[in-house]
Amino acid sequence: MQEVYSLLGEADILVIASPIYYHGVSGQLKYALDHFYSAAYPRKPRNLKKVAMILSSGDPKMYDGAMFSYKGDFWEYLGLIDMGVFTAYGMENGSASKLKELRDFGKNLKS
Ligand SMILES: Cc1cc2nc3c(=O)[nH]c(=O)nc-3n(C[C@H](O)[C@H](O)[C@H](O)COP(=O)(O)O)c2cc1C
Repeated sequence: MQEVYSLLGEADILVIASPIYYHGVSGQLKYALDHFYSAAYPRKPRNLKKVAMILSSGDPKMYDGAMFSYKGDFWEYLGLIDMGVFTAYGMENGSASKLKELRDFGKNLKS
């Protein structure tokens, strides 16, 4: 987490990415998000303005759990600007067309 904390100090955008495991983000990402407490609460790092999220899942419409934390923690609590949520499910995950969509999504994050 020490590496993450120092990166958070420099970052102007946070992009969180996770597979959906049991209706929520992975344990590994949840662990990191829980430890943001010491770096981002009660005040966000000075440069951090924007957030985006990338999710993959087995089934469609499985994103409510992840969206709950995304909205609650990053929009409402930290007041970051939502740059969008990218999702891919099932066979889409490995497809060339979805990868192109993801690249376009990434390019838009720079604006
Ligand atoms: C432990 C575990 C729990 C999972 N839980 C869900 C779930 O609740 N909903 C869902 O749509 N997919 C679930 N998945 C599927 C993963 O989200 C999916 O495997 C992951 O996004 C990677 O996609 P891929 O297997 O097509 O590479 C789960 C996978 C694992 C290993």
